[in-house]
Amino acid sequence: MASEHSPPESILNFTRESRRHDGFDMVWRQNVHLFTFTVQPEATPGYRLKTQTIWVTGASSGIGRELALQLAAAGHTVIASARTLAALETLAAEASGTVLPLAIDVTDEAQMAALETRLRALTDKLDICVVNAGSCEYLDVDDLDIEKLQLVFEVNTIGAARTVKAALPLMHAGAQLIAVSSMSTLVPFGRAQAYGSSKAALEYFFRCCEIDLKRRDIAVTIVRPGFVDTPLTQRNQFKMPFLIEPPEAARRMIAGIESRRRLVAFPRRLNWLLMVFRYTPFLWSRWLGPRMAGSA
Ligand SMILES: NC(=O)c1ccc[n+]([C@@H]2O[C@H](COP(=O)([O-])OP(=O)(O)OC[C@H]3O[C@@H](n4cnc5c(N)ncnc54)[C@H](OP(=O)(O)O)[C@@H]3O)[C@@H](O)[C@H]2O)c1
Repeated sequence: MASEHSPPESILNFTRESRRHDGFDMVWRQNVHLFTFTVQPEATPGYRLKTQTIWVTGASSGIGRELALQLAAAGHTVIASARTLAALETLAAEASGTVLPLAIDVTDEAQMAALETRLRALTDKLDICVVNAGSCEYLDVDDLDIEKLQLVFEVNTIGAARTVKAALPLMHAGAQLIAVSSMSTLVPFGRAQAYGSSKAALEYFFRCCEIDLKRRDIAVTIVRPGFVDTPLTQRNQFKMPFLIEPPEAARRMIAGIESRRRLVAFPRRLNWLLMVFRYTPFLWSRWLGPRMAGSA
């Protein structure tokens, strides 16, 4: 019989089912795609999860906004947070489900310390917390801007840790923490000293949490998106290979959340390419990296 602290049975069931999908079934489906060029109809994202209460940070725009919309449409209660309350209210009005706006600045120590009480006013439990709020600033190595470096770490790393601190008291056995990292952790990109290292630190932080939270049966998933067309990347002046749209990114993330995988990386083509360069660092650091950054 399931103890009070066992994960809900439905979660275990779908974990087994999706593992099967990720293995042989996936290979088979890819072959079918190759030879017939058909596109399989997408299932409604999030429908396989038992109805959950999910906190998504950075939900006022981009990936987080789309994630909140899709999760709410699948019947989950979404607590959507960011600094811009007006954008969160518009999101709540547009959503075809329950979205509860929560205005917070993850860099504000006082606000974040008082957050648990505000969360408890909205819900008595959190099943999933998606730590998605993020910021990107590029640095100039000849004139390093330490304030920018601090700002990026404040949002992407320290802000993420503050989010975990606020969420954990409401999380139970079977719950799940999701960290939105980036493929920039695979290889160093020019001018990404702040962004890339803040995300590498984020991943390390969450991997440590994974070990410590094992005894509470709280799972940790790290998501590494490639390039997604959002306000964060619309400022980029370089060509972004395999750029995808936020709805596609949100679908991939939800599939990863459903399967409770430890690591979710998409698009796969970019992931494989960067993996090759990760293990051939001389090729990346001496040849392609400098060319991409325009410093070769
Ligand atoms: N787009 C990509 O290609 C890409 C690739 C890899 C990883 N990612 C990651 O995906 C996540 C979402 O990024 P995105 O592309 O969707 O960018 P985005 O549209 O700029 O969204 C960033 C979100 O973070 C929130 N945010 C920023 N600073 C905050 C703060 N101090 N306190 C609270 N919320 C804050 C923003 O809301 P407010 O401004 O209203 O606070 C916004 O909702 C980020 O962690 C990013 O690093 C993106």
